[in-house]
Amino acid sequence: MYDTKVGGYELIDEAAGLIREGEVVAFPTETVYGLGADATNEEAIKKIFIAKNRPLDNPFIVHLHDISAIEEVAELNEDAKKIFNAFSPGPITVVLKKKPCVPDIATANLDTVGIRIPSHPMAREFLKKCGRPIAAPSANLSKRVSPTECRYVYEDMNGRIPLILDGGSCEVGIESTVLSLAGEVPTVLRPGAITIEMIAKHLGTVKSHTGEVVVASSPGMKYTHYAPIVPCYLFKDVIKAKVAIDNWKEEGKKIAVLVREANICNFEENEVVSMGKTSEDIARNIFRLLRECEKYSDVIIIEGLKEEGLEASVMNRLLKSCGGKIL
Ligand code: TXA
Ligand code: MG
Repeated sequence: MYDTKVGGYELIDEAAGLIREGEVVAFPTETVYGLGADATNEEAIKKIFIAKNRPLDNPFIVHLHDISAIEEVAELNEDAKKIFNAFSPGPITVVLKKKPCVPDIATANLDTVGIRIPSHPMAREFLKKCGRPIAAPSANLSKRVSPTECRYVYEDMNGRIPLILDGGSCEVGIESTVLSLAGEVPTVLRPGAITIEMIAKHLGTVKSHTGEVVVASSPGMKYTHYAPIVPCYLFKDVIKAKVAIDNWKEEGKKIAVLVREANICNFEENEVVSMGKTSEDIARNIFRLLRECEKYSDVIIIEGLKEEGLEASVMNRLLKSCGGKIL
């Protein structure tokens, strides 16, 4: 058990020192909080698995301070240069052939590695001070909702790691887009705020995450992620949702209904929660709302979103939260 310290910029030097000693530190990024360790230190990486309770066959993303550090850990190709120049620092991870300094345990024995250069100012300062590549999954216990605020990291990690850097609420709110440029065709393995449409503008053809190949080559995808501790359902039809809500209420269940701002008026005031007005609001708020609602409700019902752009990326997470259950 650690006596977990929490703080802001004043703790960055200490956090970087812990990393050099082979410890695990949680830090904010613009997407979600990460649980970082020295990517070149096998013993340090093992501590991430322990802190998260994570199965050993799930690869970690390697975080870097800037583009110039990529070639130390991966083979940079022309497409990757275009993508990093266009979108980094920012919410995208690019999967490339890895170099030997990244141990196999960090990448689930794959010969590839996901590289990400986050834009959050505290992440950038932390990575700069560390002066080495940082392997980091999201800072939640395995299978739980990714944390978008320091207090949710604390909820899952108190006592399990020595230090958490608090950088406020994550601006994007869902994890980075994962784009593989290690195969024949550029393929989105996980959708995110950098959408397939944005990537295609730079690369031409891009395969989406719904293709068969994608699921096979992205090991993290086979686990149920983002699961609140109460059952969740998606709905498109308000009437159907209301019928289901009435039935649950008769059974004495407490309901939380997550909808777009514009649809609040369709549900009872004491049950309804706004996800926000814009797609960006919804992405930023969704993981926090799932964590809040699971604390007081027995069932969470969520309005389905658009199947394009950023909302499609959020829907990808919500379908997993709901285990595919649609009203
Ligand atoms: O926004 C994010 O990406 C956050 C922050 C902390 O950077 N990190 C994150 O890490 O979401 P994690 O471990 O929760 O999810 C990483 C996913 C894996 O589940 C896997 O699907 C994919 O990225 N991935 C990582 N390395 C890969 C590789 N070499 N080949 C294929 N997929 C990979
Ligand atoms: Mg995760």
